[in-house]
Amino acid sequence: MSEYEVVESRLSGLLPSLERDYVGKTKVSSELFRRSLRVLPGGVTYHVRFLHPYPPFIVGGSGTRVWDVDGNEYLDFWMGHGTHVLGHAPDFVVDAVCEISRKGTHLGFENYYVLEYAEYLTKVLPNVEMLRFCVSGTEANMYLVRLARAYTKRKYVVKIEGGWHGGYDSLHISVNLIDEPESAGLLEDSVKYTLTIPFNDLDAVEKVLRKYPVAAVLLEPVLGGGGCLEPLEGYLRGLRQLTYEYGTLLILDEVISGFRLALGGAQEYFNINADLVAYGKVIGGGYPGAGGFGGRAEYMELLDQLKYPDQRLRSYHGGTFVGNTITTVAGYTLVKYLAEHRGIYEVANNLWEGISKEFEKVCMEYGGMCWTTGVGTMRAVHFTKLRPKNFREVRELRWSRVVEKAFNLYARTNGILYISEKLFHVYPSLVQSRKEVEYLLKTFTNFMDMIVKL
Ligand SMILES: Cc1ncc(COP(=O)(O)O)c(C=O)c1O
Repeated sequence: MSEYEVVESRLSGLLPSLERDYVGKTKVSSELFRRSLRVLPGGVTYHVRFLHPYPPFIVGGSGTRVWDVDGNEYLDFWMGHGTHVLGHAPDFVVDAVCEISRKGTHLGFENYYVLEYAEYLTKVLPNVEMLRFCVSGTEANMYLVRLARAYTKRKYVVKIEGGWHGGYDSLHISVNLIDEPESAGLLEDSVKYTLTIPFNDLDAVEKVLRKYPVAAVLLEPVLGGGGCLEPLEGYLRGLRQLTYEYGTLLILDEVISGFRLALGGAQEYFNINADLVAYGKVIGGGYPGAGGFGGRAEYMELLDQLKYPDQRLRSYHGGTFVGNTITTVAGYTLVKYLAEHRGIYEVANNLWEGISKEFEKVCMEYGGMCWTTGVGTMRAVHFTKLRPKNFREVRELRWSRVVEKAFNLYARTNGILYISEKLFHVYPSLVQSRKEVEYLLKTFTNFMDMIVKL
């Protein structure tokens, strides 16, 4: 048996005892999950939130911690799907929201707060001369694909394998599967004009741009749910060059990386200029209905009802809750704080750079059974035979079917929460302390010790 097979068989023996530990600590959650199964399909609000054998039911969060109904405290390395860059419920944001909500939660007319926030964002976000708000990251990408098609008068869009842009039909392909629609009921026709290529492969970009009239290449500059994979040196620059050459728009999905890698997101961090950018999560300051998209005025003007009174010439965008006061004020308050405390980024990015090296050391000590990827506060550890550079490799180089699940369970029983039993990746806040991050490392080291030396 290979070393991998030995560990895999140990892991199968270990899972039941890890599960017993967890069940022993989460009796009330177990009861709530049984109730949930009757009214929520799969017992959850979103399938990715299911964790075996059932998820802990969280009752509250503050700063870097959350608590479940059984009274267990967890360090949260998931932070509301990467939303809470300053931790849960920062007082000054909550106060601003309480104050504004007394004047109306959603006005349904143009309002001063949106204008102020929009003006501010155009000052701090690179290449965003104009923007519109929407209510999710999914919507931001959806509207951008439409806008890019309207502007270029081309049909095709290119996305990256493993890239997640929300459940919008045209982009809901090659996320977990390769080149297949990701859902029952999703028509082949909806993805007919979506071309998918591997990350970090400029030849693939060139090939596809040469062959098809492509409106836009849309990608996460650091692949998030696909494995926190960083762009290789020269990849983003090459992509920019190729898209210029072929008259194709470059759309960055900064729903995770925006306001996270730097205030100006990946554009600032990697010094790359996008034509259009999608935002979500942080743009809403931790409140629901978070989304926005923007770019150069030349493109964004296609949304202008004054310039294009004929709706057939205009690219459509809208929605009931767009520009509501709560999300707007929360976002503005938070982003202004980030802009006035830019040092936070350097501290957090350095902390995670250092800790990632420590993780890598542990992986090497255990014979290269795992590899680290990511940048800034987007980090993953892959239980693969080599370091993956694209999503296919994340899948194909994995040596175990259960190790990620076992570590997630082990972490939970040791007071650490993050989502995905398929991939150990974290989107922590920028204010996680060194001690907390070191505790994550220690827990991981203990786990490796347990499964390799068992
Ligand atoms: C990179 C990326 N794009 C888009 C989305 C979709 O955003 P939302 O869930 O707000 O619709 C997500 C959500 O996780 C994301 O990670």
